[in-house]
Amino acid sequence: MVASFPQTTKPILQNHVDNFLDHPVPDAIMAMPNLEYTLAWIPGDHVWHNRRRVCASHLFTTQRLDSLQHLRQKKVDQLLQHITKHCVLGTPVYITDLASATILNLMSNTMFSIDLVDLRFESAQEFRELMWRIMEGVGKPNISDYFPIFRSLDLQGVKRGTVPSYKRLHEILDGIIHERMKLKASNSTTSMNDFLDVLLDQCQMDGSDFSSKTIKTLLVELVFGGSDTSSITIEWAMVELLRNPHVMQKVRIELSEIISPTRRIKESDID
Ligand code: HEM
Repeated sequence: MVASFPQTTKPILQNHVDNFLDHPVPDAIMAMPNLEYTLAWIPGDHVWHNRRRVCASHLFTTQRLDSLQHLRQKKVDQLLQHITKHCVLGTPVYITDLASATILNLMSNTMFSIDLVDLRFESAQEFRELMWRIMEGVGKPNISDYFPIFRSLDLQGVKRGTVPSYKRLHEILDGIIHERMKLKASNSTTSMNDFLDVLLDQCQMDGSDFSSKTIKTLLVELVFGGSDTSSITIEWAMVELLRNPHVMQKVRIELSEIISPTRRIKESDID
């Protein structure tokens, strides 16, 4: 079933979402610790709805996005500075690496106020490598997905291959959450105004179904879900522009009309 019009997707996503939640989970994803606490991979129950509600009201709102505009501007400025440096030196830039590092840092700063990739984009940082290893596993054609009867055998070793990367990702997040809890314990007025703070506050509420284990899974999922999807979209758009010089020319003209070459690009320029 394909729903590609707003009129058809809206009722599916808003009114009948529960009926469309249950879909097969790739075997490589099954290696993820605490899969039952994710948003994307479980059939919805009241706990799932609660997690989704917290994301919808504290992460995906216009108000929240507006309040984090300065952060995105900072990351875009860093990206532009890096590209300018290479223009002056006449050296190539690797769009894939730059887009991926910028988006990953945007996501990690939104979630827990930390740069996961260094600002000079020079070293392939651990988090990114782990994500790539998992993506490779998930993207591989896997006999276990076509013939579930073979799942327990994991004939190609795809699931076994992703286990260490998932474990390490969760360890990194454990460390980040632990540090923040220590900081909050030492100074209860400290607020980073990021999503981790929101989630830790949720953990403190009476009868809450949030815990350090569930918020860790959610954070990994959000950083994961938001990073490669966005950076690959940028990479794809750049490739298409290079393949279609007449479109590239049109974009250049449009950009020079709206943003002068001496002015910094701002998010409001896109409105
Ligand atoms: C160009 C960018 C993006 C694309 C193409 C994209 C694509 C998708 C698709 C196709 C799904 C449905 C997966 C399924 O159910 O099989 C999905 C779900 C999801 N995405 Fe994205 N996504 C993008 C950006 C983001 C960002 C920025 C975030 C987080 C900040 C995010 C978080 C999620 C989450 C949490 C789910 C599961 C939602 C649920 O089941 O309620 N995505 N995305």
